[in-house]
Amino acid sequence: MAKNLFLLPGDGIGPEAMGEVRKIIAHMNDAMGADFALDEGLVGGCAYDAHGAAISEEDMAKAMAADAVLFGAVGGPKWDDVPYEVRPEAGLLRLRKDMELFANLRPAICYPALANASSLKPELVEGLDILIIRELTGGVYFGEPKTITDLGNGQKRAIDTQVYDTYEIERISSVAFEMARTRSNRVCSMEKRNVMKSGVLWNQVVTATHKEKYSDVKLDHMLADAGGMQLVRAPKQFDVIVTDNLFGDMLSDVAAMLTGSLGMLPSASLGAPDAKTGKRKALYEPVHGSAPDIAGKGIANPIAMIASFAMCLRYSFNMVKDADNLEKAIANVLDQGIRTGDIMADGARQVGTVEMGDAILKEFVSLSV
Ligand code: IPM
Ligand code: MG
Repeated sequence: MAKNLFLLPGDGIGPEAMGEVRKIIAHMNDAMGADFALDEGLVGGCAYDAHGAAISEEDMAKAMAADAVLFGAVGGPKWDDVPYEVRPEAGLLRLRKDMELFANLRPAICYPALANASSLKPELVEGLDILIIRELTGGVYFGEPKTITDLGNGQKRAIDTQVYDTYEIERISSVAFEMARTRSNRVCSMEKRNVMKSGVLWNQVVTATHKEKYSDVKLDHMLADAGGMQLVRAPKQFDVIVTDNLFGDMLSDVAAMLTGSLGMLPSASLGAPDAKTGKRKALYEPVHGSAPDIAGKGIANPIAMIASFAMCLRYSFNMVKDADNLEKAIANVLDQGIRTGDIMADGARQVGTVEMGDAILKEFVSLSV
């Protein structure tokens, strides 16, 4: 049966980065007997320009029906003044919410060749391999009320609501414990229980879930601010970090920079396994944004997008060998000193988006024989 991929390249550098994944998919179809069927839609600013919405109903339906969605990036200064409800980011948030993609996996791996590209000392990041599990469909991103009210006295009041139910914390911490078992078997949970009720419940539920089902995994708790500090002080102390939607957004950008560039970090957003088929809805996207300043110049780093496709092979299609090979291909190309501008180093060869994609594909081809 064909594997249905729905591509949403989006805005800015999204389409350029997606172009490099397309080449890999074409090769897998033509030469490796893979059976990927591709369809493509619009999301973000380009969808607003075409339909007046951040994603059309038709494309939402296609995303819901696909085996996996590959997402590029959304946003840019062109859409700074569009109404809040249809801003580019609304398309991504709707996909996450409607597809119920509650588990966002953000691995931060420092490739040995890039230890010098990090803003931290190389010895602090060399060999870094952490996995941030971010809750993605709850918390302050979606909590109601979410309003700005005119108080009538020259003042306005803005409200966002941080809200978590027990089941949401249970299911995200279960994902974290299960992922930890496939790695170094350690989870650090981060919240702000010293200030927030949602942090108190988060801490209680993670502790109870651990006690009940995962007591073989080593569990630590950290306040999220201290966690941020520890991430830049001694990042290698962590294995799996589990945290809420907003803290996860911030901590994963911090973790990204440890690896040398935001252009390196892939992510997978997964739903619950279907009761009948066991299949999870899934969306794969680079952690970086649309980088409007460099869009269209052919210089964007496509590695995060390609590594996101590797996660798609692994988590949606169980194509473990191909996923390993694609990740190895990225590491080999970096070892060869081939770099886009964002990860450039002395003595390396600077290339553009297409050349980087070609180099990775070439390595992938020779690893796949
Ligand atoms: C991310 C991004 C998004 C988020 C934006 C684009 C809405 O920063 O995926 O980390 O805040 O979740
Ligand atoms: Mg973010």
